[in-house]
Amino acid sequence: MKTIDDLGDLAGRRVLVRSDLNVPLDGVTIADDGRIRASVPTITRLRDAGARVIVVAHLGRPDGRPDPAYSLAPVAARLGQLLGAPVAFAADTVGDSAKATVDGLEDGQVAVLENVRFEPGETSKDESERRDFAARLAALADVFVSDGFGVVHRKQASVYEIATILPAAVGGLVAAEVEVLQRLTGQTERPYTVVLGGSKVSDKLGVIDNLLDKADALLIGGGMMFTFLAAQGHEVGTSLLEDNQLDTVRGHVARAAEQGVRLVLPTDVVVAPELSDDATPTTVAVDAMPSDQMGLDIGPESAAAFAEVIRGSRTVFWNGPMGVFELAAFAAGTKQVAEALTEVDGLSVVGGGDSAAAVRAFGLSDESFGHISTGGGASLEYLEGKSLPGLEILAG
Ligand code: 3PG
Repeated sequence: MKTIDDLGDLAGRRVLVRSDLNVPLDGVTIADDGRIRASVPTITRLRDAGARVIVVAHLGRPDGRPDPAYSLAPVAARLGQLLGAPVAFAADTVGDSAKATVDGLEDGQVAVLENVRFEPGETSKDESERRDFAARLAALADVFVSDGFGVVHRKQASVYEIATILPAAVGGLVAAEVEVLQRLTGQTERPYTVVLGGSKVSDKLGVIDNLLDKADALLIGGGMMFTFLAAQGHEVGTSLLEDNQLDTVRGHVARAAEQGVRLVLPTDVVVAPELSDDATPTTVAVDAMPSDQMGLDIGPESAAAFAEVIRGSRTVFWNGPMGVFELAAFAAGTKQVAEALTEVDGLSVVGGGDSAAAVRAFGLSDESFGHISTGGGASLEYLEGKSLPGLEILAG
């Protein structure tokens, strides 16, 4: 893949950078600015090279039309703070405001375009519509840098088609993410443990399928654990359950056993009558879940067992919280798993927005992990062995 070095002298050139600035917002307050921080090194590098930097990004899924709730304005302001430099903000993506903003840039200056998903051409299913929109975006710039790792699994105009029009290269963030994912799929240091959580088992089946060939241990927590527990015949009360995945899960359990992969499921669960701050939580064994209660975290015995496996591993990939960590009563399992990852003597990788947000909510520094991926879906699809369009187009 071409890198920024291959683009030649960038002084005075207009560089369009696709970043992933899709951060969780609480009104206009940014709840976790991890993705904005992660985009800073590439932007700084381009500024230092004297480029005129035009950042294109999305926020949420606004459905192809402007919606002030999804404006990138607060994100642009935060980027300016982190860069320690003014950041111009265009009120549209390819319209008069974008053109005027880009024309006003001097060497080393930065502009952020309004949410690219306000434009229907960005996410259109129709390739010619995406190409037309990409051509309008390309007209703003001389070269393209793909640095939004979190979107490289999307075949969208500002990720894929744009790279067929402008000279293109990968940015430092995408290069670093891919390097780590290659380490997780290639010759990994053993033992290799994969920790999966989050609400939906169906989102993780592809990863489980692909990693059963590579991992030594697979630890399952979060909402998805209840489909595993139900597949083994346990009562799961009113917990999350994907009935239609029970057979597939049974197949994976059998394959894990055949291939000698240690499948570790929780032995105890924190349950409550409902998902609420006021609910009184109790810890029960997995074979004693009351039929009128829901499981909302792994229990302390399970958390300790998970932590022990993690600490004894040389390579760990974790995606998805162990429970509803946003509520203090159901955060302990996720916290213990996160802390154990910081003690791994080897490579520890956190993938997925929720897990990354949990790590930061617990006050653990990014540096105490080997790598915190900015891409949830993208890293999972990579680990599933899928080809990611945004990488494929830059591979030539
Ligand atoms: C993410 O949040 O995973 C990325 O920004 C991609 O967003 P999307 O799932 O809306 O394409």
